[in-house]
Amino acid sequence: MQGEAILEVKNLHTWYGSQHVLDGVDFTVNAGEIMVILGTSGCGKSTLLKNIIRLYKPAMGSIRLLGQEMTELEEEDLETVLRDVGVMYQYGALLNSLTVGENVALPLEMHTSMTSELRHDIAELKLHQVELKNVYHKFPKELSGGMQKRAAVARAIVMDPSIIFCDEPSAGLDPVTALGLDKLLKTLNETLGMTIVVVTHELESIRRIAHRITYLDRGKVLFTGTLQEALSAQIPAIQEFFLME
Ligand SMILES: Nc1ncnc2c1ncn2[C@@H]1O[C@H](COP(=O)(O)OP(=O)(O)O)[C@@H](O)[C@H]1O
Ligand SMILES: [Mg+2]
Repeated sequence: MQGEAILEVKNLHTWYGSQHVLDGVDFTVNAGEIMVILGTSGCGKSTLLKNIIRLYKPAMGSIRLLGQEMTELEEEDLETVLRDVGVMYQYGALLNSLTVGENVALPLEMHTSMTSELRHDIAELKLHQVELKNVYHKFPKELSGGMQKRAAVARAIVMDPSIIFCDEPSAGLDPVTALGLDKLLKTLNETLGMTIVVVTHELESIRRIAHRITYLDRGKVLFTGTLQEALSAQIPAIQEFFLME
């Protein structure tokens, strides 16, 4: 699987009412890579992720994820594909009414018939994997911002997915905590071969983790390739973006 396309998006169009938010997006993510999606605020990054995991159905185009055409799948088959996909939403989105451990175990409860004991043990293991200890019975609000993000990563990987999507994982974190989170994503990628798609606009983060980047501008892909290639491509919008950072 390494190196083959795990996600192929072709000619994707999305509207919110009359607003044409994605205007023919094409890009590919290869198995085993960390792909960073970037672009200015409001250019459609979160919408693109939502389209891929079918939280919001695009109007037109093709999304091939893990060998399945996502735009055509019926609920039941969609569910099967999504079991192999982890998601870390923008703003973390742990449920405040559940403990941290219950949050992490939630996908197991939703998608498997495991006993609660087994769910507990796996969630505990995943918390260890993201270097969180003694937090299972705490509530999200009792954790620091960085720890909440780690818990959200633990939840995203609890089903051992082939690919995870992270929407602005380091937003709101101080630089040191953001560095730690980047290291965690890199470790998951390098040790487990997990494919990771990250939306971020933190230049430091892009430098640290991106194998390739896809630059979105007003709903269109201006560039896909390595950061090095992007910087030497002489595309004004991209140069401006990196100068602003
Ligand atoms: N649910 C929605 N309904 C209507 N408009 C939306 C919705 N979500 C996002 N938008 C609009 O679509 C555009 C792209 O939003 P988004 O995908 O969130 O951008 P990004 O994540 O790149 O900041 C923005 O103009 C935003 O205001
Ligand atoms: Mg967004």
